[in-house]
Amino acid sequence: MPPMRIGILTGGGDCPGLNAVIRAAVRAVEVEHRGVTIGFADAWRGVLDDRWEQLSIARCRGILPRGGTILGTSRDQPYTRPDGVDAVREAVARHELDAIVAIGGEGTMGVVSDLHRDGIPVIGVPKTIDNDIAQTEMTFGFQTAVQICSDAIDRLHTTAESHDRVLVVEVMGRHVGHIAVWAGIAGGATIVLVPEEPFDLDDVAARIVARHHHGSWATIVVVAEGAVPVPGTLDIGEPEIDRYGHEVLGGIGHLVASEIQQRTGIESRTTVLGHVQRGGSPVAFDRVLATRFGIAAVDSVSAALSGAAPFGQMVALQSGHIVAVPVADAIGHLKVVEPDLLRSAAILSAQPAGSPPASELTAG
Ligand code: F6P
Repeated sequence: MPPMRIGILTGGGDCPGLNAVIRAAVRAVEVEHRGVTIGFADAWRGVLDDRWEQLSIARCRGILPRGGTILGTSRDQPYTRPDGVDAVREAVARHELDAIVAIGGEGTMGVVSDLHRDGIPVIGVPKTIDNDIAQTEMTFGFQTAVQICSDAIDRLHTTAESHDRVLVVEVMGRHVGHIAVWAGIAGGATIVLVPEEPFDLDDVAARIVARHHHGSWATIVVVAEGAVPVPGTLDIGEPEIDRYGHEVLGGIGHLVASEIQQRTGIESRTTVLGHVQRGGSPVAFDRVLATRFGIAAVDSVSAALSGAAPFGQMVALQSGHIVAVPVADAIGHLKVVEPDLLRSAAILSAQPAGSPPASELTAG
């Protein structure tokens, strides 16, 4: 086999561990395939505008623990430009690439699937702190985000107890509640609200009042940014839409806190963790997973070049093993929180058997 040449890019929102993938892929290409990796700037925008840099083991020194992405990222993609796919095809030819390795979330995996259909050699690497991509048990960045959130909840406990307040913590989780549930369980939150299960604030308020009646003071409520009320129970207004047509989330925490205060009479405050969850150094688990994904992506390119497997694969974690699956199988549906985890979170907020039902209690 001649030396391998790949292009690599990071697309969509950033996430801790992107640099670890880049570093691992660059090393695998150089060490195992005597090859060269080209890094495209700002995701597909760099492919379309021909902005790139040649990467090397030396260039990647020191980036393993660094958050963000040395390549930059954007949500631009080829299919929104009339000449986009041809421009990608030309970039592959111009740089004599064997493949493009695209690291990104569900949107990027959709582009990988479409480009594969259009005959461009591509391999996908899933990333998102939300951990919602199907076909992979975990995405890197998720464990880092969970750690940041559970550390924050630990801190909020002591101030909530001092003031006997309800503290609402809003975490990321656009369509699913993986971060909220994991951080809620790890941080010992009282109530966790997730997109998978629309919430009823009367019920939430009654559970908080019941808790106070039983002598448990201070309450931590974790709410995923994408959590929604039971239809007809609360007006959450119209979301703002960004230039890519995505809803700009954030703010449900404030609404939940103010409604809880109104309904219970207990002072409530909100902390929105926001992009803090996406910044900084990846935890060890994410560094290892990202490294394994980076090496596996190069293995997938190699397998496709030798004819052992097709392009259009996405690397994934399944039963602890790194595998490659058709990227088409990973798009169009999201991985929601397992019912047993939701049950664990619910047990945290339940009152012991024999307690009067929450609905019979009033705010004190
Ligand atoms: O997809 C990951 C995510 O962190 C979501 O939870 C969040 O809604 C979104 O990114 C926000 O992205 P940005 O602010 O970069 O548009």
